[in-house]
Amino acid sequence: MQQVRGVIARAKGEPVSLETITVPDPGPGEAVVDIAACGVCHTDLHYREGGINDDFPFLLGHEAAGVVEAVGEGVESVAPGDFVVLNWRAVCGVCRACTRGEPWYCFDTHNAASRMTLDDGTELTPALGIGAFADKTLVHAGQCTKVDPTARPAAVGLLGCGVMAGLGAALNTGNVRRGQSVAVIGCGGVGAAAVAGARLAGAATVIAVDIDPQKLGWATGLGATHTVDSREHDAVEAIRELTGGFGADVVIDAVGRPETWKQAFYARDLAGTVVLVGVPTPDMTVPDLPLIDVFGRGGSLKSSWYGDCLPSRDFPMLVDLYQQGRLDLDAFVTEEIGLDDVEAAFDKMHHGGVLRSVVVL
Ligand SMILES: NC(=O)c1ccc[n+]([C@@H]2O[C@H](COP(=O)([O-])OP(=O)(O)OC[C@H]3O[C@@H](n4cnc5c(N)ncnc54)[C@H](O)[C@@H]3O)[C@@H](O)[C@H]2O)c1
Ligand SMILES: [Zn+2]
Ligand SMILES: [Zn+2]
Repeated sequence: MQQVRGVIARAKGEPVSLETITVPDPGPGEAVVDIAACGVCHTDLHYREGGINDDFPFLLGHEAAGVVEAVGEGVESVAPGDFVVLNWRAVCGVCRACTRGEPWYCFDTHNAASRMTLDDGTELTPALGIGAFADKTLVHAGQCTKVDPTARPAAVGLLGCGVMAGLGAALNTGNVRRGQSVAVIGCGGVGAAAVAGARLAGAATVIAVDIDPQKLGWATGLGATHTVDSREHDAVEAIRELTGGFGADVVIDAVGRPETWKQAFYARDLAGTVVLVGVPTPDMTVPDLPLIDVFGRGGSLKSSWYGDCLPSRDFPMLVDLYQQGRLDLDAFVTEEIGLDDVEAAFDKMHHGGVLRSVVVL
């Protein structure tokens, strides 16, 4: 075992602290990873605010890249020295989703069984089973996906969560095809990635919608052909106008609120697709949605868990596209910060101005 620094959320709503943690040697099927970079995601803040569960203290951080330092018994998929992006859905291969050939829905994903602890022996709960705001972390070996070792860690680590969720919402869940029209509501890290995914798929019209003009500017850089400031314009009307009066083939809600989902519902063409990738809170409902509209408008209403990604399939491919200059992951890295700047990065989330703050070690 070894002692390293880690960012800990001890109690609901309290500022995080940088503390000494103990990382055990990897047990069977596990790996210790030396973290190179880890993005600050909204979900880390949700953990700190008690919005995920009450299993404090949390070791935060989950959008990370690093180098495998050691592996436990029976691990063959990765070896010490491998450069990996960490994922929070290590598929089991044997559940009913995996066996029917849809492993991206795996219902029994793996995390490390051994526990990291505080100095006094208190067991830590790693965010999304990762906990990568730390010099080193312990994960299940299946959570490590090997990628091109020459890629920039701060950029490719973002594929571990929000950027993959957005890219996958367009590419996998929305199944965007060349020539289609796509609208993305909410262009933070996730929505901006959905814009990039729509461009990658060859969409002809890519409409970015946000209430923050700076986000719209970044979305344009990533491939939006049109932007809509929905504080000033009705999002549904604007999207219809930009698509010949019909609505978009695929509309992606990357905010996850009843009002944005309803905008997505009505801003798509007949038989079009709505993708919900923003995560609602348990108290949210969609009132007053006539069932006849659900029937009459046809198409499909989908949710996107982690962009319906399969890390082993998608991470290396997307890193290669990044390395070829065809996917601008650098555009998501607004700032590089240290482990002791995570609390300040949470503040910046509320004030805008950042797509991603990334801790670099
Ligand atoms: N499905 C998944 O697997 C997955 C993975 C990661 C994150 N997420 C979720 O995706 C969502 C977005 O995450 P993010 O990191 O991009 O957050 P973010 O805070 O960076 O971005 C949210 C964006 O939405 C905009 N916005 C807010 N209200 C709006 C409105 N009414 N209309 C239009 N735009 C509005 C904001 O200006 C901001 O640009 C969150 O709910 C997050 O939890 C989902
Ligand atoms: Zn499974
Ligand atoms: Zn995340």
